[in-house]
Amino acid sequence: MSQLGANKLSVAFAGLKALSEVDLAINTGQITGLIGPNGAGKTTLVNVLTGFQAPTSGAVTLNGTALSGLQPHQIRRKGIARTFQGGRLFRDLAVIDNLEVTGVGLGLSRARARAEAAAMLEWIGIAALANRIAGTLPYTDERRVAIGRALIGKPAYVLLDEPAAGMSGPEAAELSRLVHRIASEMGCGVLLIEHNVGLVLKLCDHIVVLDSGAVIESGTPDAIRNSEKVRHAYMGTAAETAAPVLETLI
Ligand SMILES: Nc1ncnc2c1ncn2[C@@H]1O[C@H](COP(=O)(O)OP(=O)(O)O)[C@@H](O)[C@H]1O
Ligand SMILES: [Mg+2]
Repeated sequence: MSQLGANKLSVAFAGLKALSEVDLAINTGQITGLIGPNGAGKTTLVNVLTGFQAPTSGAVTLNGTALSGLQPHQIRRKGIARTFQGGRLFRDLAVIDNLEVTGVGLGLSRARARAEAAAMLEWIGIAALANRIAGTLPYTDERRVAIGRALIGKPAYVLLDEPAAGMSGPEAAELSRLVHRIASEMGCGVLLIEHNVGLVLKLCDHIVVLDSGAVIESGTPDAIRNSEKVRHAYMGTAAETAAPVLETLI
């Protein structure tokens, strides 16, 4: 088993502490959940882990070795991949081309990248979408394509930033099955950011809770379910966000 770690990561934006000494470990083959109210610092943490944001202090570690000063594409080549909250596909390209371009960017020949792209779409169950123009896809398909693209090159880790946001219950359940397979069949270490706490409690091996940039709790789903601190963190947030979360925790 190998491990991607955050070691006392802090990020300050002009005085705002987006992250404060955050520690976190993602193990291959496991799903780590990252939850917390809006503005807690979840996306900032993913940005730091993938080289899109430099930390103010602290380090990202891969099997204990610091990955300092690397660019996002260098981190990707080390097997740490991500999706973005907004999908960010190449909208004018066909679905399969979106995946192929990524493979070529990772150093595969065009033929190998194409073959891997086709196999990935098959594995996800969206081979029928291969020739669709990415920008014309419904939102839920776009998310699955974005996950497929992140999995090109067989990364050891994949960080998913709210992949189920806006999905219906059945759509989110299908996405959960995909996330589970990414860990169990591919052996990937998954970091899952997700507002549906019920889904996170069901799916994750380990959960980390961020609030105002700091880790306020981390542990098994049961420990999180019973945490007063977690309940308290969600109490101060907008009622429409907090109510379903609190219902799940109670
Ligand atoms: N590039 C940036 N410049 C300034 N402030 C930022 C930037 N990115 C995020 N923030 C702020 O940092 C905090 C954490 O944001 P974010 O990581 O996006 O939270 P989350 O993903 O948990 O909703 C928020 O207060 C947000 O406004
Ligand atoms: Mg976010």
